[in-house]
Amino acid sequence: MDAIATPDIAGIVADIAAEMRLSSERGQVASYIPPLAAVSPDKFGIAVILADGSAHVAGDADEAFSIQSISKVFALTLALGAVGDQLWQRVGREPSGSAFNSIVQLESEQGIPRNPFINAGAIVVCDMLLGRSAPAEAIAQMVRFVRQISSDDQASIGIDETVALAEQDTGFRNMALANYMRAFGNIRAPVERVLGVYFHFCALAMTCRELALAGRYLMNGGRVDGHSMITPSRARRINALMMSCGHYDNSGDFAFRVGLPGKSGVGGGILCVAPGVASIAVWSPGLNASGNSQLGTLALERLVQRTGWSVFEPRG
Ligand code: DON
Repeated sequence: MDAIATPDIAGIVADIAAEMRLSSERGQVASYIPPLAAVSPDKFGIAVILADGSAHVAGDADEAFSIQSISKVFALTLALGAVGDQLWQRVGREPSGSAFNSIVQLESEQGIPRNPFINAGAIVVCDMLLGRSAPAEAIAQMVRFVRQISSDDQASIGIDETVALAEQDTGFRNMALANYMRAFGNIRAPVERVLGVYFHFCALAMTCRELALAGRYLMNGGRVDGHSMITPSRARRINALMMSCGHYDNSGDFAFRVGLPGKSGVGGGILCVAPGVASIAVWSPGLNASGNSQLGTLALERLVQRTGWSVFEPRG
């Protein structure tokens, strides 16, 4: 079998959506951000964009959902563009092995978060973006960037202000993380401003189709529609971090089951990249114990089983 050939992606995607529709093991919808708790656990969407630009979607692929921590990939991309590799003086590149909102390692590691994909790391990344602009500008820059990489000419991607506000009202752990890092000197702007940016990034609402389009720059060595967004080496490194850190304390299991760079969010979305082959987004709001989409992960596992797209699969 040629592992790269993609014979019937439309059929595979339809099969996966049909299987997921019937599943009774759907996990628990996140409840600590109240608007997320109101989303039906019956939702399931999948979108696959192939390297030739063709799109294959099924289920609720055109319904917008809260991308939450998937925005950490886009925030990292923008911050690397703004400050370059200096970023790594303030954020590590190792899996944390802890929950996404954990504070425990920050004390012994002097306020330097393990990686940019846990909450503490993403909050530092937001602080770096604020070093250059006011909060409203940083948020507007993010919306522009995501619309650009998704080729969203209609400007339909935006921020769900209800979610952003709910995060502000309930984000006590994030406030603790930001204040704690500020005590170590690793947050420089006022904490409320940094968190305002962080919460708005998390509240971006996108469909699976838009998210898979947004991931094309990571599939294509930094390029979208013939334009270079980031260098190939930066795209490769972001993919490496998604593989090692994109699912928090579940990252090893995700690599074992799926074998692709992926980033999850508590809204139930996962953005996954098969470098050179496909950009994939799945969404199902029910989460597993680590806060990653239960059915989204299963759907990706099925997809790689049928396509051979895992990066650990022999090529050609
Ligand atoms: O800060 C939070 O807790 C949420 N806005 C984002 C967390 C998240 O998506 C982690 N994902 N698995």
